[in-house]
Amino acid sequence: MAKTKTKPKPGEIPYLKKQGEAVQLIVDGKPFMILGGELGNSTASSLDIMKTVWPKLEQMNLNTVLVPVYWDLIEPTEGKFDFELLDGLLAGARKHNLRLVLLWFGSWKNSMSCYAPQWIKADQKRFPRARLKNGQAVEILSAFSKANLDADIKAFATLMRHLRKEDGKKHTVIMIQVENEIGMLGAVRDFCDLANKAFKQSPEDDEIFMARHYARYVNQVAAAGKAEYSLPMYVNAALNKTGQKPGEYPSAGPLLHLYDVWRAEASKIDFLSPDIYHPVFEEWCAGYHKSGNPLFIPEAGRGTENIAGVFYAFGQHDAIGFSPFAIEAVSEVEKGIIVESYDVLSQLSSLILANQGKGTMSGVSLNEENQTQKVKLGKYVLNVSHGYTFEWTPRPAGIETWPKVGGLIISTGTDEYIIAGCGLIVNFSSNSESGEIAGIANIQEGKIINGKWQGGKWLSGDQSHQGRHLNLSVDKFSIQRVKLYQYR
Ligand code: DGJ
Repeated sequence: MAKTKTKPKPGEIPYLKKQGEAVQLIVDGKPFMILGGELGNSTASSLDIMKTVWPKLEQMNLNTVLVPVYWDLIEPTEGKFDFELLDGLLAGARKHNLRLVLLWFGSWKNSMSCYAPQWIKADQKRFPRARLKNGQAVEILSAFSKANLDADIKAFATLMRHLRKEDGKKHTVIMIQVENEIGMLGAVRDFCDLANKAFKQSPEDDEIFMARHYARYVNQVAAAGKAEYSLPMYVNAALNKTGQKPGEYPSAGPLLHLYDVWRAEASKIDFLSPDIYHPVFEEWCAGYHKSGNPLFIPEAGRGTENIAGVFYAFGQHDAIGFSPFAIEAVSEVEKGIIVESYDVLSQLSSLILANQGKGTMSGVSLNEENQTQKVKLGKYVLNVSHGYTFEWTPRPAGIETWPKVGGLIISTGTDEYIIAGCGLIVNFSSNSESGEIAGIANIQEGKIINGKWQGGKWLSGDQSHQGRHLNLSVDKFSIQRVKLYQYR
């Protein structure tokens, strides 16, 4: 279980707090929903490039950017730290009203150790590498070496100390990812002498053993960082595909089948997060949303199929945040989708945050294979179908597969719901056994401005199929409010 504080104080540094069944991120005393984007790996290494990137991110309606901090650039010489780049990133984010999640590219980045400074890479004797089963060293620092751990701890703790000094009052940085997609490649575990010695004394199988040691290492890095500046910290997982063997996927990472090991060994890590590039987006959301482990998606694909999922993640799984990868490289089409969906979600954010963990909100995600979903919420059952199930829904000529669509539903009164997203047809029935029939009193399209409903068009006639259903267009993200009644 993630440890959560209970007494929020405005002005306190960001922290995690329980609300009902949910865990929320509190920033400046209030719950915060990350509408994020992660930068491509190398973009943040140049402040000149960032000058052109910041405005683009702001225009896309992001409120948070996930930005790497590169070990080799902050400690190019052992013990000599340079934070000019980081300070420039803090200034840039502040100027453009953006928060940051920092990604510590320390000992491991996608299993490898490419961000270790040269003085580490070139001194294998002092900083041992992991080895494959045949004894071959690879460019992965061994998790069994105290020297490796101490060097990472020193750099990370220095980073967090600097951050507290520069940002401890402003809270531009709201969370930290410790390392990136940890896991052994090419073998199920490290086979260096230190690892083999420890393995001989272990009753566990290779992958569990390796996960325990990765988790212990990262826990000590996080502990040292938190001792300087105690921001929420998480690790991210490269997900395993069906049929792959450990070592083909990054073995022993913070994966679902190793969840208990990671949580037991890494108590300083507040939660484990999935990087979701897989088609079964919903299953990974459900897997990583556990009691005490809030769902945060630090990386996802940028295509339409993923963006519809953002509504599902917030509505169904009380997500802390969502963040497509290489956000600065979006195509015009992808950009349009992010602008629109994040606009709608930021309008809804105070309502979503108020309803997290209370059982008053649901998420929906539909495609050609899963065309319908039944949502029981309050007095009514909402029968939700893909927009293309309705014969009058316009669709582009020659379309081969149905687009993925999604949305969220919030119960805002006994007979009232706010429904947002795209491509959904919703009809209503009573949730009681007593034979009542549900009818639509009215539907209005609208916006939420400063937390208040601002109604626009009333949607009846053809727009509600003469009072039979609510219809969210497939082509745009929008918000509608429906009022219902019951009759016999
Ligand atoms: C996942 C990693 O975490 C990212 O840093 C990046 O390498 C992407 N994969 C590339 O798809």
